[in-house]
Amino acid sequence: MIWLCVAGVLIVAFLIFHKLFVQRRACTSTATLHGKTVIVTGSNTGIGKATALALALRGARVIVACRSKQRGEDAAKDIRRESGNDEVVFMQLDLASMKAIRSFVETFLKTESRLDVLINNAGLATAGRTEDGLGMVFGVNHIGPFLLTNLLLDRLKECAPSRVVNVSSIGHSMGTIDFNCINTHKRLALGTSNRDIFKIYCHSKLCNVLFTHELAKRLKGMGVTCYSLHPGSVRSELGRDLNGTFMNILKCISKVLIQTDEMSGAQTTLHCTLQEGIEPLSGRYFSDCKLQDVKAEAKDDEIARKLWDVSERLCGMA
Ligand SMILES: NC(=O)c1ccc[n+]([C@@H]2O[C@H](COP(=O)([O-])OP(=O)(O)OC[C@H]3O[C@@H](n4cnc5c(N)ncnc54)[C@H](OP(=O)(O)O)[C@@H]3O)[C@@H](O)[C@H]2O)c1
Repeated sequence: MIWLCVAGVLIVAFLIFHKLFVQRRACTSTATLHGKTVIVTGSNTGIGKATALALALRGARVIVACRSKQRGEDAAKDIRRESGNDEVVFMQLDLASMKAIRSFVETFLKTESRLDVLINNAGLATAGRTEDGLGMVFGVNHIGPFLLTNLLLDRLKECAPSRVVNVSSIGHSMGTIDFNCINTHKRLALGTSNRDIFKIYCHSKLCNVLFTHELAKRLKGMGVTCYSLHPGSVRSELGRDLNGTFMNILKCISKVLIQTDEMSGAQTTLHCTLQEGIEPLSGRYFSDCKLQDVKAEAKDDEIARKLWDVSERLCGMA
């Protein structure tokens, strides 16, 4: 009898996990992207690489924007081969350095005439500091995409209708924004344990949702729309820097429970990039290829505006 109860609990837990985390829907848009240019950050591996491949298959000119020259060039070559699209080019972009971001934008604006979609996909969960002294997770997951997007806004406006797609995570719902910590330590929270890093990661993903919320307001009427999203749970390289017994057990469990197919992890990004008619939903959050509501803090006008102001100051834009 007790085994039946245990089995029942496990099945219910699995079904809840499946419902909450596993991506089931696919992007149904049939839009093609011939003549359009898309930047996908962090597209040398994981969800970003699958996204870049899917967009290349639809005819886009794809800028594979990655920090490692070798990994980025190899990925661009793979995508060209698999898609048969020669318009897939690598450009170096390290989101942990504002100087490198500015240099990427300078090269991009000089060499490319269009920008139709910017996909802020790159992300990490690791300790350390960026070149500019920001907490690494805060710097790469929020401040880097914030600066990159702002520097590319004029080109996006020129190419309207255009879009910005920010890859967040369901983890944003466990995040919070500690402005005192940002002001004092240039990070979202303190600590270096796996648990701390996981928490800081969730805070940074909340920043993605709030950034999108505020960006939509600032872009209203300009033909540029923006969306944030959870891509589903994909066993990618994201947890590569998180070790220790607890993380190793989690990784073993994830081998059994989590889908590994990066292409299914790309579906909500593709939906936000391609789906016709979602423009009135600019600034909102998507999961499993559909609109999802977020907690009050993730759509709070005042918090979003304050985060924008702090981010501008940290980027030297204010
Ligand atoms: N996998 C999931 O289950 C899951 C769930 C929710 C949300 N997400 C989000 O989905 C996005 C993609 O994650 P993923 O799972 O595909 O992870 P991944 O396999 O680790 O890929 C992350 C990408 O980001 C790049 N990146 C890291 N630091 C960078 C930097 N400083 N500058 C430029 N690029 C940098 C990585 O480049 P390198 O290879 O050079 O490190 C890699 O290309 C992330 O934003 C993540 O938060 C993933």
